[in-house]
Amino acid sequence: MTDAWWKSAVVYQIYPRSFADSDGDGMGDLRGVIQHLDHLAGLGVDVLWLSPIYPSPQDDNGYDISDYQDVDPLFGSLSDFDELLAAAHERGMKLIMDLVVNHSSDEHPWFVESRSSLSSPKRDWYWWWPARDGMEPGTPGAEPNNWGSVFGGPAWEWDPATGEYYLHLFSRKQPDLNWENPAVRSAVHEMMRWWLDRGVDGFRMDVINFISKVPGLPDGTVTGAAYGDGSASFLNGPRIHEFLHEMYEQVFAGRDALLTVGEMPGVTVEQARLYTDPAREEVDMVFQFDHVWADRGPDPWVLQRLKLTDLKAIFGRWQAGLSDVGWNSLYWNNHDQPRVVSRYGDDGDFRVESAKMLGAVLHLHRGTPYVYQGEEIGMTNYPFGGIGDFRDIEALGQYAQAVEKEGHAPEDVLTVLRARGRDNARTPMQWDDSPHAGFTTGTPWLPANPRYPEINAARARKDPDSVYHWYRGLIELRHTEPAVVHGDFTMLLPHDEQLYAYTRRLDSTELLVIGNFGGTPARAELPDPAAWDRAELVMNNTAQPPADWVLGPWQAVIYRRTVTP
Ligand code: NOJ
Repeated sequence: MTDAWWKSAVVYQIYPRSFADSDGDGMGDLRGVIQHLDHLAGLGVDVLWLSPIYPSPQDDNGYDISDYQDVDPLFGSLSDFDELLAAAHERGMKLIMDLVVNHSSDEHPWFVESRSSLSSPKRDWYWWWPARDGMEPGTPGAEPNNWGSVFGGPAWEWDPATGEYYLHLFSRKQPDLNWENPAVRSAVHEMMRWWLDRGVDGFRMDVINFISKVPGLPDGTVTGAAYGDGSASFLNGPRIHEFLHEMYEQVFAGRDALLTVGEMPGVTVEQARLYTDPAREEVDMVFQFDHVWADRGPDPWVLQRLKLTDLKAIFGRWQAGLSDVGWNSLYWNNHDQPRVVSRYGDDGDFRVESAKMLGAVLHLHRGTPYVYQGEEIGMTNYPFGGIGDFRDIEALGQYAQAVEKEGHAPEDVLTVLRARGRDNARTPMQWDDSPHAGFTTGTPWLPANPRYPEINAARARKDPDSVYHWYRGLIELRHTEPAVVHGDFTMLLPHDEQLYAYTRRLDSTELLVIGNFGGTPARAELPDPAAWDRAELVMNNTAQPPADWVLGPWQAVIYRRTVTP
């Protein structure tokens, strides 16, 4: 397993709804993806991850699935999908699907059947519970426990037809599947095999560490928010390793060259060692969240600035923790995160420099990097105004809860949503400087970022100094320099609040990466600077190399030297 192919791979995430619209309905689709495959092949990525394309009421933009084995007409058809898969494979790219099985849509036939009566054969496929003892069902506070849902409001929905509540950790249209039931597990396995038989190369597993719940679903911690925090009862629950190993045996065993990555909010390094230890046969890697929660303070509605030393401590811990067993995934962005150049960089005067610096610092870590659509051209957050500008169910639900139930000032909540809201990632991909950034000939479902005339893929591909070509260079370096893939990791300057520096070493090759997380020059106080005197400067995002180890604003450099093993 040491040489698993995905260790030297780079994954590119496509959020189909916002990628490219081929038919003018304002919504991205599969034919749009096919039309832009050369942009991705040109970047050099090895794997495409498609966010959900399945039939869905689109309550959570497709993360609410009503049929796991088809394509939503919004996005095209199964034959469009087959064509996309073949076209990706022809270009040497693999394709992985989003697997959303902590919950289904409430419009999935499984749930429709389940809710139809107390004696339905599928009743036990979801979490149906009676009202709290002594409470009148359907009245406020009568929910079976005090858990809040991620999108605001209680995690339970009262169903008058059968007099019980069902659990939904996300929206009320996303009922949680009951993984305790073996029939649920085998239905999911069968569906997964069906996609693999069709030729897909693996899965990104949505909130997969939520699937095992603590029996009894006890009340969660009371935090001062409107609802309790039940996460101790569903994050990395008691049977999670058993469920993942069973999935491996039932679905993945005996199939080669797959990639599995589990999205795991709240996962610790110690747990990730278990999830990703190849000997345990669970998943290849996980998405942890520590580094994207590093700028989150105790009060969710007060913006907190990133402290670079915190970010370094987090990455350092993950790099060390998975050095001998398991594997890291590396990401700044996805469809749930704001644009990194606006978040941890400077999307003003130093947009290009800081986007490149962030790319370099991330990609040279040990692990598999993920690039989210638009990141490769340095796309920025959108200038949202009022709550009416947002479409995301999370932003709308959290705003309602914070303002109406918890008494937060609307402007405070908006400040945080503008900076961190998920819609920042979901505005149309900026292809060129034609109307709506070349995303659609119709009216886009979310407006294009007004900066598209300056920030777009056509322009970036033509400009050798663009973020796009820098990312292409980073990907090529991973493909050609084994120290990027396999080298040991050593964090340098852990106490420096402006510079991020580390080395990677494999046999006689050592790499040094330094990134300036600030708009002023800063000097790197390296432990042994003379050792790098004759080193080769492999990549540099500014015109000048550092003089006497002083890096310019947002500068990033990668050096290579030969050492005696
Ligand atoms: C995580 C997904 O990335 C997010 O977009 C979604 O809203 C939730 N899981 C629920 O499926």
